Formats: sequence, structure tokens, C-alpha cells
Amino acid sequence: HRDLIGIGQLKRHEILFLLDEAEQWVTLNRQPTKHNDLLAGLTVINAFFENSTRTLLSFEIAGKRLGADVVNMHAATSSVKKGETLIDTAITLNAMRADAIVIRHGSSGATQLIADKVDCPVLNAGDGQHEHPTQGLLDALALRHALRERGEAADDFTGLVIVICGDILHSRVARSNLLCLQALGATVRLCAPPALMPTGIEAMGAEVYHDFEAALDGADVAMMLRLQTERMSGQFIPSAREYHHLYGLTKQRLANAKPDALVMHPGPMNRGVEIDSEVADLIDRSIITRQVEMGVAIRMAALDVLTRRGRGVDGWGAAA
Ligand code: CP
Repeated sequence: HRDLIGIGQLKRHEILFLLDEAEQWVTLNRQPTKHNDLLAGLTVINAFFENSTRTLLSFEIAGKRLGADVVNMHAATSSVKKGETLIDTAITLNAMRADAIVIRHGSSGATQLIADKVDCPVLNAGDGQHEHPTQGLLDALALRHALRERGEAADDFTGLVIVICGDILHSRVARSNLLCLQALGATVRLCAPPALMPTGIEAMGAEVYHDFEAALDGADVAMMLRLQTERMSGQFIPSAREYHHLYGLTKQRLANAKPDALVMHPGPMNRGVEIDSEVADLIDRSIITRQVEMGVAIRMAALDVLTRRGRGVDGWGAAA
């Protein structure tokens, strides 16, 4: 693959290849000196048309730790505000001869549109309600690390029951995680109020729930998602209070899952809405900050693997 647009494009062995590649960067990132010159001389452009903390910073840190020159374009302070189109913006970025372009955009498909117009690899940092592939990969890596620390074999997630609860309808994270976790063998239960569940999602192999306690029954992992009110218009928008009442992860509700069930959240969190602080901060159970740590390693692996062809190196290894 030249680009990383979605988990949907990846085969199981390619997902495992990226996770395995990221392991060396987990190790490097835990050293006092976290630098490698693998991408020295390359230019990475992060073009973000939507707000971000984790994804933008971790792509920037990933590129810099690999020695690349990294520049960030924030749409809010760019010529997009003067009416420049997405395609003209893509042509402009291409003319600057970037070696990789990382895009976040509010419209599903925008990343592919840009990939079709530029000569270098494009990495999707989240496009509308479509996909957020590096989030799916970093979540899998965080889960693998947590399971291995418990002494469990975690090369594959067969037998694990993972609940993803929240605003599934608007969530690119839910879609990428569903594809990634299923590819690795997990059973995925999606839980949301009926108005926030995409119709026909069962066709993707998900088990659909509207009762959160039933969804949590015997689960190994509870992955919580926030309400994306910025994407809601003219539809059911629950109040934070009523949403928490039915779908908030409280300690009491978590007791429906397995006794050692793990808690995940891609961030940003709305504490007291989809998750209580006493759950988000549970020692040994919540792996939310580990997810952030793994984000840097996964993005280092993605930048490395996708720029290999341009560096004259075999890109996806023998496995692909
Ligand atoms: N998880 C995630 O994509 O967070 P940001 O929006 O802060 O990048």
C-alpha cells in the first residue's frame, strides 16, 4: 500500500506487521534519548482541518523522533479560511515535495481525495465518520501490551469480548477498532442509544446492544467513546445527565464485566458523562494513558513503513 487510509484496506498479517514494527519504537521511546535518524532528510506535513491534541502531537513527535523535518498546517490559520478548496490545498502541499502527508479532515473520504492528488504517501489521521486507522492500531497495541503484562498470550485476541460503547454513529474510532479487533479475532459488541447506532452495522460482524449492562456482561474490555455533539444536527442529542444515567461507565456498572476487565478510551474524555473519573483512573485496569504512549510508537511505525518505498527499502516486508 502507498497510503494508510483505513484498517479496511489491511489484511490481518499487515496489521500484525505494523504492531510488530511499532514494538521497537515502544522500546526506543522508553529510553532517555529517544532519537533515531531513519527519516533524516524527509519532510512530513501534518495537515489538520479539525482539532486534535493526541493525534497531531504524536504524529509530530513520531516524525521528529525519526529525524524527519515535520511541519504542521492548521486549517484554522491557513488559506482554507480564504476559500481555498481541499483539492487546491492538496496540490499546494504536493508542490512542496513532502515525503508523507498526514491528514485529519471532517469529511469522510477527504483523505482518499487528497491521496489521489499527491505523489507521496498519505496517512489518514481521522476523516469524518469513516476511519482513524492509527487509532485502531494503537488501541490494539495497548491492549496487547496490557495482556502480555498479565502473562496472557496476546498475539491474537481470539476469545476476547470487547465492548465499544458511545456515539457509534459518528465514530471513526469505532469503525477502525471494529475492523482491527475483529481481524485479530475478538468478538466486538457495539453499544449505543438507538439514535446513535448506525443501521446495518451488524453486517460488519458486530453484536449490537442498546442496554449497556447487558453489553458489559462477561466482557474483557470496555472501550468508551464520547458523544460527538459537534457532528450532531437535527437529531436526538441526549443531555449529559441522561446519557450518563444510561451509558456512563461507573464502577458499579463495570462490575458486570469480568473482574479484571480493562478500560479504554481514545480521548478526549468527558469525565462524568461517558466515564466516571474513578473508572478512568483505575490503577491496573484503565489503560488510557498507555493508549497515548502507544500512539507515538504506532505513528513512528506507520511513517517508517509508508516512506520505505521512497527510501528504496522493501515497504511491507515479506509478509505482505
Ligand atoms: N483520539 C484522538 O484522535 O484524539 P485527538 O482528537 O486529540 O487527536
